[in-house]
Amino acid sequence: MSRKFFIGGNWKMNGDVAFVKSHVNFINDTEIPANTEVVIAPPYIYLDSVRKHLKKEVGVSAQNSYTKSSGAYTGEISPEQLKDLGIEWVILGHSERREIFKESDEFVGEKVAHALATGVKVIACVGEKLEEREANLTEEVVFRQLRAIADRIKDWTHVVIAYEPVWAIGTGKVATPTQAQQVHIALRDWLRNNVSAHVADHTRIIYGGSVNGKNCRDLSSEGDIDGFLVGGACLKPEFSDIVRTKA
Ligand code: G3H
Repeated sequence: MSRKFFIGGNWKMNGDVAFVKSHVNFINDTEIPANTEVVIAPPYIYLDSVRKHLKKEVGVSAQNSYTKSSGAYTGEISPEQLKDLGIEWVILGHSERREIFKESDEFVGEKVAHALATGVKVIACVGEKLEEREANLTEEVVFRQLRAIADRIKDWTHVVIAYEPVWAIGTGKVATPTQAQQVHIALRDWLRNNVSAHVADHTRIIYGGSVNGKNCRDLSSEGDIDGFLVGGACLKPEFSDIVRTKA
């Protein structure tokens, strides 16, 4: 089953006007392999500028969006507004949103459904905390997070699932290829048993958590790891090595 390799670069709350300019130039100068899709996610305030100056073969993603189209929701951004700017993707359910901003599984599911209904593609994040892994609850947690999404959507064509173990995010403690592959297989089996064989075979499941220019090739050798959601390393020159993992 061929699934196009996917590299997302999540800037989180990093960057300024000068960085936007230099980083967009850097990505424009990076040759994107034909077998790889690349999407970068700068903070909201830079989305418009990044989309205008970035080469079109690289997608642009927001880092969050709301469940409504417009209205009195101070501080929120709608998928309709993203679409208006030509932003193709949004990251939803990132563990930082779940933990720091107390987003529930159901809320994430509603946001995913609204973004997809609007025509914005979704990088949907799931992942367990260290104590959950140590209590052998990894599958229970990621299946519960996925269920809240699956209950609210029918079409998975424009969904990429990002498996991001919370203990590996920003810690330098990357999951081993085997650890990641085990969860990716479990997620794919869950899709097969709870959605359809077609969705299981075609949905890209990417890994996130301390991916860098050195570990990306090893991780990519596992058959169910269809790419990466990169945080810290996407802000550095090594991002071009990660983008070229499959070159
Ligand atoms: O969205 C990206 C992930 O949170 C991974 O971040 O590569 O800095 O560990 P990291």
